[in-house]
Amino acid sequence: TPGIRPLVAGNWKMNGSLAMASALVGALKGRQGNVDLLVCPPFPYLAAVGAALAGSKLALGAQDCHADASGAHTGDVAAPMLADLGCSYVILGHSERRTDHGETSGMVAAKAQAALAAGLTAIICVGETEAQRNAGEELKIVEKQIVESVPSGANAGNTVIAYEPVWAIGTGKTPTAADVEAMHRHIRALLKSRVTGGAGMRILYGGSVKPSNAAELMAVAEVNGALVGGASLKAEDFWGIAEGA
Ligand code: G3P
Repeated sequence: TPGIRPLVAGNWKMNGSLAMASALVGALKGRQGNVDLLVCPPFPYLAAVGAALAGSKLALGAQDCHADASGAHTGDVAAPMLADLGCSYVILGHSERRTDHGETSGMVAAKAQAALAAGLTAIICVGETEAQRNAGEELKIVEKQIVESVPSGANAGNTVIAYEPVWAIGTGKTPTAADVEAMHRHIRALLKSRVTGGAGMRILYGGSVKPSNAAELMAVAEVNGALVGGASLKAEDFWGIAEGA
């Protein structure tokens, strides 16, 4: 999309180690192409990764936050803590959190509200299951997720949408370019009609993005970058995707 600078974000999920994190960041640190690069390690590694990427153009993000700014929530992490650590982004409502932790779109909206209040950019994830696509419901499902997950106060500067078809995550399967385009155009129209600055909000594609398919996926209309899982764990693969974008 002209005028929108792509974002390539790595979601490490529950993978890695301190040694792997420092090696990966060390390998990526000096590089800077025409896209914004973001790494989202697990919570325990945020501080070390933040220190390792200091002075580079790599941004730091987390994979979740609580909807409250502080309080009696054992094991949870608040958005202001992430900002304090140097995070500028937080991934919210990933399908794995919706499935593993029963997160509803309403909960995602509350978390996103907290993220925005803390000065973070929220990456709000949406996407249909295979059964929903087979039933021809994908546009309707994703539209409902966006309507219910994007909080008031969202704008092009503080919110990113990530479209991740659940059946494409970690499976090696991807939708066709035409299917990605249909979904991203639908999301764009929705954002334009509902969100301040919706014409300029980034819409990422996620699900089995790798160096060999990145250029094709990133060339699709209204695709403004990628949210990468498995391939973000290897510096050369992640960089290959950035180059594709
Ligand atoms: O958030 C990114 C993710 O769900 C995609 O995972 O491993 O298919 O790139 P993967």
